[in-house]
Amino acid sequence: MIRKKVIIDCDPGIDDAFALILALKCEELDILGITTVGGNIQAITSAKNALKILKLMGRLDIPVYMGAEGPLKRKLVTAKEVHGKDGLGNAFLEEAEESLILENATDFILSTLREQEDVSIVALAPLTNLAIAMNKDMDTFNKVKEVVCMGGAFKVPGNCSPVGEFNFWADPHAAQYVLENIKSPFTMVGLDVTSKVKLTPIHRELFRHFNTPISKFLFDSSRFYFDFYWDKKRTIGCLLHDALAMAYFIDNTLCQGFDSYVEVVTEGIAMGKPIADEENFYNKSSNCLVLNEVNADKFFKLFFNKVFGEFRKDYEKFL
Ligand code: BDR
Ligand code: CA
Repeated sequence: MIRKKVIIDCDPGIDDAFALILALKCEELDILGITTVGGNIQAITSAKNALKILKLMGRLDIPVYMGAEGPLKRKLVTAKEVHGKDGLGNAFLEEAEESLILENATDFILSTLREQEDVSIVALAPLTNLAIAMNKDMDTFNKVKEVVCMGGAFKVPGNCSPVGEFNFWADPHAAQYVLENIKSPFTMVGLDVTSKVKLTPIHRELFRHFNTPISKFLFDSSRFYFDFYWDKKRTIGCLLHDALAMAYFIDNTLCQGFDSYVEVVTEGIAMGKPIADEENFYNKSSNCLVLNEVNADKFFKLFFNKVFGEFRKDYEKFL
């Protein structure tokens, strides 16, 4: 089997944790490294959390590189009200040794792209690290096979402003810089699709019954996330944004979309909004595949089969 080589750029983050766990359970992926950035939480906590997840999964052999502490131009705005004080839904996973945190994310991205062919990036956080790497060495960055990015809200409301999705809104200049300069395929897994992938009480109940260290963590961390959605929107369940982006990278039949020229608004009331020229008014070549349809059932089947395949007989009838 040819394994897909990938660098995961993230800010764990409860849904980042779901994405990392899914990736770590996929033998068709060769995870070359995890890079972290200030986003949901400070960059150092992001890095510590990535290590905690690797420890939980018994994969501390995968290197973790810390990246930018904050956005290119804006001040760092974290999302602790969504992800908890520890960034992982106050599940307080066991720490790994802090000395395992390596420097520096953007150099790691560039040296990997210089040394290896066919490396992709799955970006689950503000695009600051990617923009900095591009700015340092554009030609090398553009050797990337593809970038699959959780970010943006095309035709649905934002989750930070009427139109701003967190990752694009938190560092709109980075998002725009990456889109403006990317030459490799770039896929936007935005709220248009991720807002249709909701973890429900049934899923959490299954985690509780599986009763493994991984399922316990997913159960515990999603409690905080559920409460956030209840307090904020009076809905039951939570959205697995980053996990969908990861799943799409693994199986691109999960979502459909259209190729388009996209620019991200960097200032003002529409900050972070990706403007996708779906009707080709500007006659510019496409720089983005914008996803707008998703098969959520297929996502959950993939997630459970990969992460909890040994319990298939128990969960099959619920998915
Ligand atoms: C994105 O923002 C973060 O809070 C999540 O981890 C995800 O990457 C969703 O808008
Ligand atoms: Ca994230």
